[in-house]
Amino acid sequence: MSTVGTAGAAGAVVVYGATGHTGRFIVAELRRRGIATVVSGRDGARLEALAAEDGDVLVRPASVDDPVSLDRALAGAAAVINAAGPFAVTGGPVVEAALRAGIPYVDVAAEIEANAAMFADHTEAARTAGVPVVPAMAFYGGLGDLLAGAAMGGWTAADEVHVAYGLSSWQPTAGTRKAGEVSHERRGGRRVRFADGALQYHDDQLSQQDWVFPEPLGRRAVIAEFTMADVVTVPSHVAVPEVRTYMAVEAARDLAGADTPAPEAVDDLGRSDQTFVVDVLVRAGGVERRATAHGRDIYAVTAPLAVEAVERILSGRTRTTGVASAAAMFDAPDFLRALAPYLSVDVSN
Ligand SMILES: NC(=O)c1ccc[n+]([C@@H]2O[C@H](COP(=O)([O-])OP(=O)(O)OC[C@H]3O[C@@H](n4cnc5c(N)ncnc54)[C@H](OP(=O)(O)O)[C@@H]3O)[C@@H](O)[C@H]2O)c1
Repeated sequence: MSTVGTAGAAGAVVVYGATGHTGRFIVAELRRRGIATVVSGRDGARLEALAAEDGDVLVRPASVDDPVSLDRALAGAAAVINAAGPFAVTGGPVVEAALRAGIPYVDVAAEIEANAAMFADHTEAARTAGVPVVPAMAFYGGLGDLLAGAAMGGWTAADEVHVAYGLSSWQPTAGTRKAGEVSHERRGGRRVRFADGALQYHDDQLSQQDWVFPEPLGRRAVIAEFTMADVVTVPSHVAVPEVRTYMAVEAARDLAGADTPAPEAVDDLGRSDQTFVVDVLVRAGGVERRATAHGRDIYAVTAPLAVEAVERILSGRTRTTGVASAAAMFDAPDFLRALAPYLSVDVSN
């Protein structure tokens, strides 16, 4: 039954941005796991239409410009997953509402500056409130961090972390394109990298190189320094001066193409035919360790990442509180094992 109101949300997880492409996957994953769900976002009519498809979620519209509406949306709930981007706009208001409500906050932001702001602006309040906050709990930022954590085993420091994305293609959603525009504007058109232990802004041209993925993908051309959210999540808990991320040239070309269509569902789960390999290489003192994940559809796989995070937080399977990335908040190898239905993971350490 879909109702508007503040009652009936006990134990439920609120999905803010539930009507988006990724939000819908998250709602479906919560429902699949039998978790009570509140769908929220700025557009009441779209939320009602979404609820009509499912029939068993609460509808609570809320605007990031209206803190009272956010408080109403989160009232009585157990946690919130923010899937509404740009996170430069939604991240602050939604996490602040979560902290007022005293409930955990998880987001899927892939905007480096917004990810960094989550740590810089909310760490103290989240720690004081004893509330877990996990930014970038998604394909970008979260999965690479978990793989790095699994590869490192007991290491707490490294000389270099490399995250290579072998995407077969990339049909971006409107939200992905908007995130790119917002980040581009925020950087004044400059590029960003993580080197010498810090985010650095520069105007160097992007270069191409080969990356040898584990078979069957093998040697592929990638764009070097195609900088993704892992440059915030990994150094948030690993002492490492250099984190680099790479993107398969085909996927980078798709993303840059103004005419590249949005993802198209080709299976019963609504997934596209996109496949991915995320290959993480960690080097320390001349020793190299590697962890690799294979899967399908970067948007779809974000749902089990975010929902698994919330389930672990709600059942106390966490390693810290306050703002923390995936591998700092959770037992990375155990988390990855739990994703076996969605991901195949190989770790060599
Ligand atoms: N880190 C990762 O790997 C990862 C993975 C997936 C998605 N993401 C990020 O998640 C975001 C959503 O992606 P998507 O694929 O779901 O895009 P999408 O289909 O375009 O959906 C965007 C969602 O954000 C909402 N929204 C936009 N601006 C808003 C605002 N000012 N206030 C409230 N809600 C707002 C939209 O609401 P309306 O329906 O009202 O327009 C919609 O629900 C993007 O920023 C994307 O980069 C990251």
